[in-house]
Amino acid sequence: MYSSDLHAFGEKLLKEHQIEIKGKDSSFVERFRSHLLTIETLFNEIYGDHPHRNKGFDQLLHSLITLYQQRDTALIQKDNEKQKAGNWFVSNQITGMSLYVDRFAENLQGLAKKLPYFNELGVNFLHLMPVFESPAGESDGGYAVSNFKKVDPKFGSNEDLKHLIHQMQDQKMYLMLDIVLNHTSYHHEWAQKAKAGDPYYQDFFYFFDNRDIPNQYDQTMPEIFPESSPGSFSYISELNKWVMTVFHHYQWDLNYRNPFVFNAMLDTILYYANLGVDVLRIDAPAFIWKELGTTCQNLPKAHTLLRLIKKCVQVSSPGMAILGEAIVAPAEIIKYFGTHDFTAQECDIAYSATQMALQWDALATGDTRVMLAAQHDILQKPFGCTWINYTRCHDDIGLGYDDYMIETAGFNPFQHRTYLKNYYAGWQEGSLAAGALFSVNPKTNDARISGSLASLCGLQKAVEWNLPQEIENALQKIILMQAQTMFIGGIPMLFNGDELAYTNDYSYLQDSGKCYDNRWMHRPIMNWDRNEKRNDPSTFESRIFQATRKLINIRKSLPVLMDHKNITWMTPHNIHVAGFVRSSENQKLFCLFNYKNAGSYITWHAFKEHGILPSQLFDHWTGETYTVGNDHEYFILPSYSFAILEVVA
Ligand code: GLC
Repeated sequence: MYSSDLHAFGEKLLKEHQIEIKGKDSSFVERFRSHLLTIETLFNEIYGDHPHRNKGFDQLLHSLITLYQQRDTALIQKDNEKQKAGNWFVSNQITGMSLYVDRFAENLQGLAKKLPYFNELGVNFLHLMPVFESPAGESDGGYAVSNFKKVDPKFGSNEDLKHLIHQMQDQKMYLMLDIVLNHTSYHHEWAQKAKAGDPYYQDFFYFFDNRDIPNQYDQTMPEIFPESSPGSFSYISELNKWVMTVFHHYQWDLNYRNPFVFNAMLDTILYYANLGVDVLRIDAPAFIWKELGTTCQNLPKAHTLLRLIKKCVQVSSPGMAILGEAIVAPAEIIKYFGTHDFTAQECDIAYSATQMALQWDALATGDTRVMLAAQHDILQKPFGCTWINYTRCHDDIGLGYDDYMIETAGFNPFQHRTYLKNYYAGWQEGSLAAGALFSVNPKTNDARISGSLASLCGLQKAVEWNLPQEIENALQKIILMQAQTMFIGGIPMLFNGDELAYTNDYSYLQDSGKCYDNRWMHRPIMNWDRNEKRNDPSTFESRIFQATRKLINIRKSLPVLMDHKNITWMTPHNIHVAGFVRSSENQKLFCLFNYKNAGSYITWHAFKEHGILPSQLFDHWTGETYTVGNDHEYFILPSYSFAILEVVA
């Protein structure tokens, strides 16, 4: 409800900051005024009863204005363009790659020199894995940050980062960086001050004098890294206290019950926005709110905090989209797009972790029924938001989709997951996958899967054992997995090395800071001599690189692939084939993916169930045109193949 006090307070702040209400700042003022009430309501939902509520709210609004004032004119101009374009991130023109700067090109300067490589491939959106300062050996791949605003010297300097961003902007590339919201490294200044006894900073974290409350939390909080960092609390001998450490013992959870923590992190978020970040990846948002007696994941107040972040960003730097990295149960992932009054008002983008895992499920079983059973949940994504689609990323593959999805397909969930784990660990008879189990928890029987795309598809073993037919199968599987990811709707995000079929890298075992975490096996170091093989058509590097490039180009050439929530799954005519239709007013595409190690048959009737009957279909992948046959005749998909069939007549 409108509040004249709040309005007057807002106007006073604008004046204090000498904002030009009718001049150059008019769009900002409009956003500030129109979102102020929601910002206050969300802030009060969390901090309304906090003794420092007023000081906190005042500080928050000052930050919003100050950080807007520090924003470059060029970025403000870009904000305006993006706002005009609407939900720019649903575009079919964007293809991403996620990479470790040092493992890809040594440092930021090296990466700047590699921009032509992305252009060659068709990638125009980079997710740089965390680049801010993080202690060597206790860094969790950069997700234990000791200084949120200083580039880690191993990557270069803040100037190098700015230089790279400018070059990317010149080439119309988009950038994604992380904000590691849930925790800091215990080397962070706040943690150090807390450890030195400063009560102001102790309140930035969750400290406990004894094990009483930690024991109560432990009863309901799942362990994230049960093998390397069991439990969710660590003992700090200097203070004779326990601190909450949900991830590794060196990552201290931030206490968002304290408004000054929220403000400090929002200030960092807007600082990243002002660097020129296009998409902010909010790391592990599911964990940011804790309550006794719960799993401390996906709690309503975590969503309130994200909505508050979204509103603040909308005011200060509206061109920056928000990605919520919530790798949780399917029905929970959807909630990160916002619910009820906040539908499509929370995160703009989320990882389609369910779809990703289910493609691995289908590849191992040759059966797409579990994937199909999950679509009802996946399709709940609101209009205007989009997915990051991926086959592999720097993390493990979790099998956290619901039991009912597995049961719908007629399988026993426990046996099914056991089969998948055995399959990808390479223990299942007939499996050539060379993955490994990650975070095995004997108490819950839970485990996730590590391994590179190529190794999980069987390429590593097929090459080692010199099995030509299996090499061929593996290559087809890689392309099949990438193809479904490209066409399903959302931003495809490749992981570095996968475009060249890099297999597992075991060098992490020699490094004491990495050997306890087998996710490093699928985070390869690029070898640029080897990468030259992409130009030699006789190599599998070339086969995969060129296929990836072709997929990207096809995607860019078809406007129907913009994510306008324009996907309809085909009736399941063949359990081995995943099939969906992407359609717009003047374009219709049948996308079919065969997960079977043999040809799969689909009657032509299947193509006649969706609106006007097609008579000719053009396959963008093979370049062939098909005349739609009689209902009892078949379209045949060879083993591990796919078709991107556009209705042309
Ligand atoms: C996210 C990251 C993962 C990291 C964790 C803790 O899930 O993707 O790599 O270990 O957060 O920050």
